[in-house]
Amino acid sequence: MLATKQPVLRRFWYPIMKCQDLESGPRPFRLLGQDIVVWRGADGALQAVVDRCCHRSAKLSRGFVDGNAIVCGYHGWAFNGDGACTRVPQWKDQSRKINFRIDGYKAAARYGYVWVCLGDPIADIPEFPEAAAPGFRQIDQFYEVWRCSGLRLMENSFDNSHIAFVHKESFGNIEQPEPASLEVVETPEGLDMNTVIPVMNRGLGNAVSGTEGTMTVRHTNAKWYLPFIRKLGITYPSGLRHSIVTCATPIDDEQSQIVQFVFRNDSEEQTKAADVIAFDRKVTLEDQPILESTDPDVPLDHASGEEFHMASDKPGLVMRRRMRDLLAAHGETEVRRGGVLRRDAAE
Ligand code: FES
Ligand SMILES: [Fe+2]
Repeated sequence: MLATKQPVLRRFWYPIMKCQDLESGPRPFRLLGQDIVVWRGADGALQAVVDRCCHRSAKLSRGFVDGNAIVCGYHGWAFNGDGACTRVPQWKDQSRKINFRIDGYKAAARYGYVWVCLGDPIADIPEFPEAAAPGFRQIDQFYEVWRCSGLRLMENSFDNSHIAFVHKESFGNIEQPEPASLEVVETPEGLDMNTVIPVMNRGLGNAVSGTEGTMTVRHTNAKWYLPFIRKLGITYPSGLRHSIVTCATPIDDEQSQIVQFVFRNDSEEQTKAADVIAFDRKVTLEDQPILESTDPDVPLDHASGEEFHMASDKPGLVMRRRMRDLLAAHGETEVRRGGVLRRDAAE
């Protein structure tokens, strides 16, 4: 599947940058291959439109904010968040009706990030109860581009077999390659997976897990939200909770904007945020080169015969089926690099 070729994916919300990144003015972003510009108007609302002026195509992100509008830096045409041109400063008669317009998109602030939906939303921004739960804090961890598709990253997050190998230096144990058993329950938003994983306490492991000894156990509840968001809720025997939200916002078919933050029910005095980030940084640096070596064009259909599977791939296979169902429900067919994949051709 190529994310930019499946229009239904434009109907989900994606986090694209921190809200504070807009303090210095409008900012560009490429979402699902579409160049957009986002800004915060004088009324405090977030706005997003296509990053291309309809006069002579200049990037509006090179312009500036005036009141609630964005003004093109080339000749000063102004646009509101719906994409309507509200001012052509060159016209003598300023009461003249303006019919020029560009595409406008939905934008909202949540969890300290700017979220954008390029179409009519078919799902809400995921609700993370920890954000409002007493005793929890949010630590922003990573904001960076990975050269991999969102679906590969989602599958990896629910893959118990990769831990012993990819994470052999951090929390995995290569002597124990047999994966922990898992339980998958499908939800309207995606799926829930519960598993109990014995893990090694190396490096900052003791500090971050709040446990003693060289080993501990993670009770994990992982939630997948269609299409490219997961929350990995880890509970350690100490009662400490570490709920990691990872979003793989699709920039294009090859690259994802990784947005990761974590909710923890402890304080800075108990565990320094810098240590929490350093521990998870080691883990993500283990995943990244492997994921960047995978083919971003994930085959949704088993019948393509391109990939073989094992029992621990079940969550990923459920994701592929749910993606196929989503496409079918919106009259779409999976698009691959070679064009539209026809089921009969693959069988
Ligand atoms: S290109 Fe934007 S106003 Fe001319
Ligand atoms: Fe991993």
